[in-house]
This record gives sequence, structure tokens and C-alpha cells, in this order.
Amino acid sequence: MDQFQNNDLDAFWMPFTANRDFKENPRMLVSADGLYYRESEGRRILDAAAGLWCVNAGHNHPKIKKAITDQLDELDYAPNFQFGHPLAFKLANKLKQFFPGDLNHAFFTSSGSESVDTALKIALAYQRAKGQGSRTRLIGRERGYHGTGFGGISVGGIVKNRMYFGSLLAGVDHLRHTYQPEHGRFIKGQPSHGAELADDLLRLIALHDASTIAAVIVEPMAGSTGVLIPPLGYLERLREICDQHGILLIFDEVISAYGRLGYTSAAERLNVIPDLMATAKGLTNGVVPMGAVMARQHIYDTMMEQADAPIELFHGYTYSGHPLACAAALATIAAYEEEKMFDHAARQEEVFARHVHGLQDARHVADIRSWGLVAGIELHPREGAVGARGMALMKACYAHGVMVRFSGDIIALSPPLMIGEEEIISMVATIRKSLDEVE
Ligand SMILES: Cc1ncc(COP(=O)(O)O)c(C=O)c1O
Repeated sequence: MDQFQNNDLDAFWMPFTANRDFKENPRMLVSADGLYYRESEGRRILDAAAGLWCVNAGHNHPKIKKAITDQLDELDYAPNFQFGHPLAFKLANKLKQFFPGDLNHAFFTSSGSESVDTALKIALAYQRAKGQGSRTRLIGRERGYHGTGFGGISVGGIVKNRMYFGSLLAGVDHLRHTYQPEHGRFIKGQPSHGAELADDLLRLIALHDASTIAAVIVEPMAGSTGVLIPPLGYLERLREICDQHGILLIFDEVISAYGRLGYTSAAERLNVIPDLMATAKGLTNGVVPMGAVMARQHIYDTMMEQADAPIELFHGYTYSGHPLACAAALATIAAYEEEKMFDHAARQEEVFARHVHGLQDARHVADIRSWGLVAGIELHPREGAVGARGMALMKACYAHGVMVRFSGDIIALSPPLMIGEEEIISMVATIRKSLDEVE
């Protein structure tokens, strides 16, 4: 830790971190390559979290690095308000081909939170443009995570992310979450029970009337709350109800897009096409902050045709379509395609699930859920100290050379897509050893 002795750790107020605890005993990552970080003491750490669910193509990818450095020589920054630069258009066209159905217009942001708030705002503006201005309600879901903007925490359903921040957006309601351990635990892939939970939307329609509801937003696979996989038929049913009642369906695919499920998106995997799709993270492999909201043709057409001002949408960010981010995104998608990373992820799904589910009999384990290259390992909480065991396990894994995420007492695994069986075996062995150690 010598290099930090004169470097006050206090000055950086760290996000979503137990600051005091971290600063007593920092976990400092100083470089990365492929599947591994290197930490300040020189140890190699297997990245079982793809950074923060974003480094899907692995660290230090030469193509992405080159694209960014080359771009720096061309154009460092250009505004996309009333001016443009070619790469943003090129990327939008690439994404149009990349995603399924007619999700063919891209609105660029700088993060997942911005993508979510952008999608919510587009939904409201669209309903108004259509002459449905009474549709102002937004429906989220319990246990949903949609980033940290006021829109995102309002539709989100994680209590600690909401309770400290006042009354949030008005006119928001929530569907029930989809976790039903009473119908089965240790399920690989989508649970067969629970499609009818989508009918909870009918309850909210009965309560508020569809004419007041603009949009429903869900993560197809709820990641940050601890990996909740959608029951078979659930998203299909949600799509159906939204269609019947003129409600827009927004998928928050900030985690699930860009190969995490072995496909471009959950929408592609399930062939359920939302009206708006929020993405970020894997879009640029996490290398440059960027998000993209994909909108279907009818959304874009309505906004263009019904606009009451030359500027059709009063929304945007200084960094929407930043040239370096566009260069990174184009190179990232090229890497995904050329190296067939999604196919690899799809092939590894069974191998990954088999090894991770091998932890069923490990100490403290209450449930394991997996889909694509994502898994949640839910631990029995310590009595009177919810979350303490999850944090202790994260620390133990790190001490043994594996970086995992935790949310309360649930460990989330989401390694870079090119992970091989050997690394999966070593990751699982480290988790088992760590489970044996922690109280
Ligand atoms: C589903 C989902 N939406 C939104 C976000 C927010 O993204 P960001 O942290 O880039 O704002 C996240 C981040 O984990 C996420 O998982």
C-alpha cells in the first residue's frame, strides 16, 4: 500500500461503497488484461463480474484500444446538438442492424441511468404527441434496478435506493417481483412457474385505468437485485397486456444486452420486442461511458410527425454520441461479431450453469439461479445482520483471487463472455473455499 501512503483515500467519496470499511482495507485494482485484474500488491484477480457487468469482451481488448486512440487523432469532441459527426450516425446504423425487430433508432446517452431516464421521458413525450396526454403514469417493478436518476429510482424497487431520497416521481406504481422460491429453487434458466405474475399489470390497470398509464419498465433479467430470471411466458404476457391497453413496454437491458445471455439482447433471445430498450455497459465494453436507447419505428415516426416545434424532443446530453464513445462502441461490436463472442457465451451457458449449480451443497447456500452467463448465489443471511455474509464472502473471494459482486446476501457472477471451462472451475472452487471460511 506504499503508493497510497501520501494519497488521502478520504477525498474520493466512493459510489455504492462502504467507504469507511473500504478505506481501512482497500481493494485497489491497478491494471487489467483479458479475464484478469492485477491489484496493487501484484496479485492476479479473476474478474467474475466483468467489472460491473460491462467488460463483456474482456479487458484491454486491442481493437477497442486502437479505435479510441485512432479516434483521438481525428476528432476529440463534437456536439450533437444541431451539429453532427459521422461516427454517431454510423453507430446508430450498426445498432439498427444489430438489435431485433424494428428497434431501429438510437438515442445516445452516457450511462445506464441516463438511458433509463431517457426512455421514460421518450415514453411520456410520445404519449402526449399521440394525443394521449392523460397517460402520465409509469409502472416499474418491485426489486427492479434502473440506475440512480430520479426517474430510475422512482420506477426502481430496491428500498435502500429509494428510502433516503424523498417522495420521488409522482404517479409511479410497481408490479410484483417475479421471485417465487416456493415454486422451486436451484433452477437453471427460466422458471416454468410464474407467467401469470404479468397479470399483476391488470390489477394496476383496474386501479388506475389504462388511460393514465404511459409505460411499463422492467429488466428482462433483474440483475442488481440478485439475479431474478423471468418465468417462462412472463415477458410475452406483459407484451400482450401492454399491446391490449396502449401501454408502452420498456426493457431495461443495461445488463442483459450485448451478449450476456448469448444474444444481442433478452428481446432477441425471447423474441419479445419492447417499444423502447435502454442499454449501456457492454455497448462500449465499459471502456468509455456510453448508453443507447433503441426506439421502434412507430415511436420515432410519431415523434417526428406530431412534433409541435422544430426540435422534436427537448432532451439530450453534452456527451450524447461522444466521438470516443462511438469509436469504442463500433470496435466493441466488431469484436463481439468477429470473435463470435455471443456464440461462445451461448455454448458456455450449460457448462457455466453445471459448475455453478455444483455449489448447491456448499455451506450457507440457499438458492442458485442462472441464465446465459449470469448466476446469482443466494446465501442464508446471518441472524440479525442481513448482508453481512454477502460482504464477507466478496472479501474472502477477493483474498483468494476472484472478484465477485454482491447485493445483500446474494453473490452475482457475470464473467467476461470468453471465459473458458478451466476458469469457471477455478472460480467455483474459490467460491466454495470462501464459503467454507466465512461465518
Ligand atoms: C438494469 C440496469 N439499469 C440501469 C443501470 C444503471 O447504469 P449506470 O450505472 O451506467 O448508470 C444498471 C447498472 O447496473 C442496471 O443494471
